[in-house]
Amino acid sequence: MRQTITNFLRGIASNWISKTGVLLVTTSFVMFSIFQLFTMLGLLTNAYIGLITYLGFPSIFILGLLIIPVGWWKYVHETGRSTRELLAEKFGPNELAPNPFGATLIRTIAILTVLNVTILGAASVRMLHFMESPEFCGTACHSVMGPEWATYQDSPHAHVKCVECHVGEGMGALIDSKINGTWQMISVTFKLYERPIPAPVHQLRPARETCEKCHWPSKFHGTRLKTYTRYQMDQNNTPKYTTLNLKVGSGESGQASGIHWHIASKNEVRYGAIDDRREEILWVEAKQPDGTFKRYDNRRYDPATPVNETRILDCIDCHNRATHIYELPEKAIDRRFSEGLLQRDLPFLKREALAAITRNYPDRNSGLEGIRNHLTGFFRQYSPMIIGERLGAIDSAITVVQNIYRRNIHPDMNVTWGSYPNHIGHETDLGCFRCHNMDMVDTDGDNVVNECTTCHSILSFQQDEPFAYLFPVKPGEREGDMHEYLLDEFLQSFKK
Ligand code: HEC
Ligand code: HEC
Ligand code: HEC
Ligand code: HEC
Ligand code: HEC
Repeated sequence: MRQTITNFLRGIASNWISKTGVLLVTTSFVMFSIFQLFTMLGLLTNAYIGLITYLGFPSIFILGLLIIPVGWWKYVHETGRSTRELLAEKFGPNELAPNPFGATLIRTIAILTVLNVTILGAASVRMLHFMESPEFCGTACHSVMGPEWATYQDSPHAHVKCVECHVGEGMGALIDSKINGTWQMISVTFKLYERPIPAPVHQLRPARETCEKCHWPSKFHGTRLKTYTRYQMDQNNTPKYTTLNLKVGSGESGQASGIHWHIASKNEVRYGAIDDRREEILWVEAKQPDGTFKRYDNRRYDPATPVNETRILDCIDCHNRATHIYELPEKAIDRRFSEGLLQRDLPFLKREALAAITRNYPDRNSGLEGIRNHLTGFFRQYSPMIIGERLGAIDSAITVVQNIYRRNIHPDMNVTWGSYPNHIGHETDLGCFRCHNMDMVDTDGDNVVNECTTCHSILSFQQDEPFAYLFPVKPGEREGDMHEYLLDEFLQSFKK
């Protein structure tokens, strides 16, 4: 057997073409194994290394395999002798003699072929797996996915793979995504993509197949207490607290209904919008218990305005920013104060940070530079003392503010403040108010409900103390359990 393999290698390496083939096959195999080992040990995680490992090496491997027979063919051609003669010269009669299992040479070739197919099979499984990793989707195409990657890593879904929302399950989804992916490769290569990238309403799998795998409507019940801390533009960056009791119920299994009523299994809300951005809604219809639909038309638009497409409202019509959550400048700064990343004792930090990040900068580097200059300039002018005494705090504040900018602003993709509005509340006039407004009326002229208490009760509004401080959580209670008790206390406090 060993003799056969040695002869075999000598045989196929009979000229430089085949030799190159053998070299390519063996080196790419060895390199693939080394890279694969390092990847499994967690030493290599970069998307480019992944591309080399799972696309580069296997391609070289296949190329090598293809070159070998070409070399042999050329060899046969050049010597002018027949394959049979050449084989007889290279191999002994042992290897060529037919025996019950075929000649030893044939068997060797068969075994090597099975081996090659196995190696390639394993490599392609690894490759598919790799191409589903968030690192690949997020970083392989340079800056194209930069904004989505930056916001993804800082979201509640940072551990949910991109493909779980964007591809979904089943063979159909896989094939769709590969066709789509091929087109994306072309559009990235030739820079044909839109900037910013539009919302993938049509490509995204239906929310029933994606979001509802992990969150299902009957899970939504009760209310959610949420406190919003907003900092003033004054010297002390004074916080003000607003506490809402968000009515997040779906009304399923006999519980009180609320915000998730739209997606409860017995309900259906459908609407027509002007375009895929779904910001301007022309009409909306809600299914009634008798199966008919109640219709509301938007008075702001001419009834003849064409509708882009009728959509059944689902999770992403509200949670369009479930993962790629772009902040608005003021909220972004407030959040960093709440998280303790920005220090309130730096005078006017809120006001100045806001001024620094909302300026128009031509590109990222001048943005980062501009933020630094603005803040150091301000503090130097405010008091030369502070620069000396609080240098460390100022420096770290600058870094935090630069990171806000880096996360949300992507000049190369034309992504700036407000490019991707969030529809979850009413940060802007959009969100819930796209339908819940005075102009969305039925035939009697009654509008879609929009009293402030439809969606939340406002427990406290811009107070100096947080609501939870006024009514502290008892030990062992979670935030979610708290509201009944809090509400009770709250009402009691009024009675007193
Ligand atoms: C939890 C689900 C989820 C995950 C995980 C997820 N996305 Fe998204 N993605 C969405 C939704 C929802 C939208 C917006 C749909 C809309 O506005 O209608 C979106 C939009 C996008 C867009 C279009 C631009 C935009 O922001 O609207 C791109 C590009 C994108 N995602 C890429 C990615 C990449 C790359 C990853 C992984 C690094 C990823 N997504 C992970 C749900 C997800
Ligand atoms: C693979 C499972 C998975 C999928 C698919 C998924 N999510 Fe999530 N989602 C999670 C996990 C885990 C969390 C984090 C929960 C936590 O932090 O307590 C989360 C958090 C959330 C939150 C924040 C909840 C909060 O406490 O504020 C929202 C909103 C959300 N998901 C909506 C969606 C939407 C919309 C989709 C579909 C586009 C989706 N999810 C798809 C697993 C998933
Ligand atoms: C009509 C708009 C709307 C639709 C449709 C919608 N949600 Fe929500 N959802 C909200 C709002 C508003 C909140 C509260 C947001 C907050 O806490 O800031 C919320 C909260 C959540 C939470 C946090 C859970 C909690 O109990 O607080 C999750 C998870 C979630 N939604 C997932 C989904 C999923 C999955 C779907 C689709 C099956 C969906 N939502 C459909 C508006 C909607
Ligand atoms: C596409 C249009 C549309 C959007 C967007 C929308 N809603 Fe609605 N919503 C409706 C319609 C229609 C009704 C039913 C009104 C009726 O006939 O009483 C409704 C009903 C409700 C109800 C009352 C449910 C009940 O218990 O009867 C709540 C609460 C609600 N919406 C909250 C929200 C919130 C919060 C948002 C934003 C996160 C939102 N909606 C976004 C169309 C919409
Ligand atoms: C159709 C549902 C709906 C209606 C009607 C509505 N809101 Fe809201 N509101 C929301 C939701 C959802 C949020 C939470 C957004 C979030 O968590 O990001 C919110 C958030 C808020 C906040 C906190 C905002 C912040 O970020 O500081 C205030 C204050 C508020 N609403 C006041 C009102 C007032 C006042 C009215 C009546 C004029 C009103 N809302 C009507 C759904 C509604």
